[in-house]
Amino acid sequence: MSELLKKARAVRENAYAPYSKFKVGAAIRTTSGGEFIGCNVENAAYPQGLCAEAAAIAAMITAGEKHIEEICIVADSEKPIAPCGGCRQKLAEFSTPETVVTLAGLEGDCTLHTIGELLPDSFGPDHLLHP
Ligand code: THU
Repeated sequence: MSELLKKARAVRENAYAPYSKFKVGAAIRTTSGGEFIGCNVENAAYPQGLCAEAAAIAAMITAGEKHIEEICIVADSEKPIAPCGGCRQKLAEFSTPETVVTLAGLEGDCTLHTIGELLPDSFGPDHLLHP
């Protein structure tokens, strides 16, 4: 198991998920080697909840970084579970189609994906940024 995956697994324990009981941990490594972790944070006003991936992205941006090299996501399931659509979009904003996404459940096995596989033909910053 990679060190990054271990960090995602560890931070999942900190998740605040009393409503769904579904804990998620995420760990990002940036192209400069920085590492940022996040877990899901739910709220009694349900739509105010925050996904683990979004929390890790917020930590990365707060630290002044924005280029994701790899992300590991550990979900509360036996087998790996793919990130929600909103998180795919959020991750794509700071990734390339080749950026590696490692998904893991609570058992040992994990699956490898790319952002391009998870969100093909995506809408992104290039559609809005004009020369
Ligand atoms: N969740 C994540 O943290 N990431 C995802 O990609 C999917 C869902 C969280 C949100 C909520 O706290 C719980 O999992 C159940 O949906």
